[in-house]
Amino acid sequence: MSVIALTNVRPYGESTVNVLIKDGQIASVGEDVDTSKADEVLDGQGWVLLPGLVDMHVHLREPGREDTETIATGSDAAAKGGFTAVFTMANTRPVIDQPFLAEAVWNKGQSYGKCDVYPVGSITQGLEGKQLTEMGLMSKSHVRMFSDDGKCVNDPQIMRRAIEYAKAYDVLLAQHAEDHRLTEDASAHEGPMAAKLGLRGWPRVAEESIVARDMIMSRDYGGRLHVCHASTEGTVQLLRLAKQHSSKITAEVTPHHLLLTDEKLETFNGNFRVNPPLREHRDTIALRDALLNGIIDVVATDHAPHGSEEKCVEFEHAKPGMLGLETSLAIIARVFVEAGLADWRFVAKVMSERPAEILRLEDQGRPITAGEPANLTLVDPNSPWTVEPEELASKASNTPYEGMQFNAQVKMTMLRGAITYQADNE
Ligand code: DOR
Ligand code: ZN
Ligand code: ZN
Repeated sequence: MSVIALTNVRPYGESTVNVLIKDGQIASVGEDVDTSKADEVLDGQGWVLLPGLVDMHVHLREPGREDTETIATGSDAAAKGGFTAVFTMANTRPVIDQPFLAEAVWNKGQSYGKCDVYPVGSITQGLEGKQLTEMGLMSKSHVRMFSDDGKCVNDPQIMRRAIEYAKAYDVLLAQHAEDHRLTEDASAHEGPMAAKLGLRGWPRVAEESIVARDMIMSRDYGGRLHVCHASTEGTVQLLRLAKQHSSKITAEVTPHHLLLTDEKLETFNGNFRVNPPLREHRDTIALRDALLNGIIDVVATDHAPHGSEEKCVEFEHAKPGMLGLETSLAIIARVFVEAGLADWRFVAKVMSERPAEILRLEDQGRPITAGEPANLTLVDPNSPWTVEPEELASKASNTPYEGMQFNAQVKMTMLRGAITYQADNE
């Protein structure tokens, strides 16, 4: 196998080194590493080297909606965004509720080879909230996480059983926390903006009441529970309480809930409709603080491709969801690194190391040292670029960031020593 040298790179944004990659692994890292015998030399120009990013929450729409995204186009978008592993949710058509369907997702991702695509299994058959799936069998078919995401497991008895099984099979249960009775016909966060625009509101309590219930269930029945897309200040308070009692609860936050608020809804642009909805400034601030101090564990994109016929319609009729894979690193860099709140070590932690740890991926989120798998992302922190929907690798173009400028840009992504994405040389 060929030997690749990355010269002048800064692991975690720290001092400059050369990295030699051989047989899919990091062979050596250091200032004096001899790169003269490499088959391919890539000049890192002082850019930041991170462990390959891991996204524990995406929607790749295959099977069923291949017109909006496929495992292949989603893998391209992931690689372009710096990701080497993603977890794709079960709310496809058909729903991923049986082992052979999970196998098919995994195999497609592997044969395309740009990103490890892990299937998420549904908690209930057909996402109907009534009958549990065969979690034990699916856990033998590459499923490490179960979720009915898109819908909440509202029925407390079903949720209790799911938590007990999750404990028995030692898998992660990820909840989309939404009391559907409180969000009927809602398309926006319940607050002054929704009132002004005449939109039906989605109150914070619809999320928080489920998070609180699940926390107590996890306390008493013991399974590993993960809160998807935490979006409110109150959810942060609940998570703080859960963690004080050394609960097994983990949580994620999306880049859009960290950066955007419901003020964007004034445009009535359907690309800003998402579930849970964009909230208010104080929620955004609480979510940022929570990620900084570890109350929220990870960033996950909830990359949700939709066709233009589902988005370019009246706001209330637009489908909820926004693209995230290709913009997330730039957003996290802006909100935390450029704002002086955190460094690149923090970015590596919340976008690679912690998600890999939560999902027990042994080959992801590893230190950048000799002997480790060469799953890497090279980032130019200072390469201004503008989000243009038509330039995205994703098949869909429902980005809420159209026209926005960011500074951090992924220059190269590598999976087990193979380059899966490389930016064009300007
Ligand atoms: O905005 C969302 N879109 N939230 C979800 O929970 C599901 C997702 C989707 O599948 O489009
Ligand atoms: Zn969700
Ligand atoms: Zn989702």
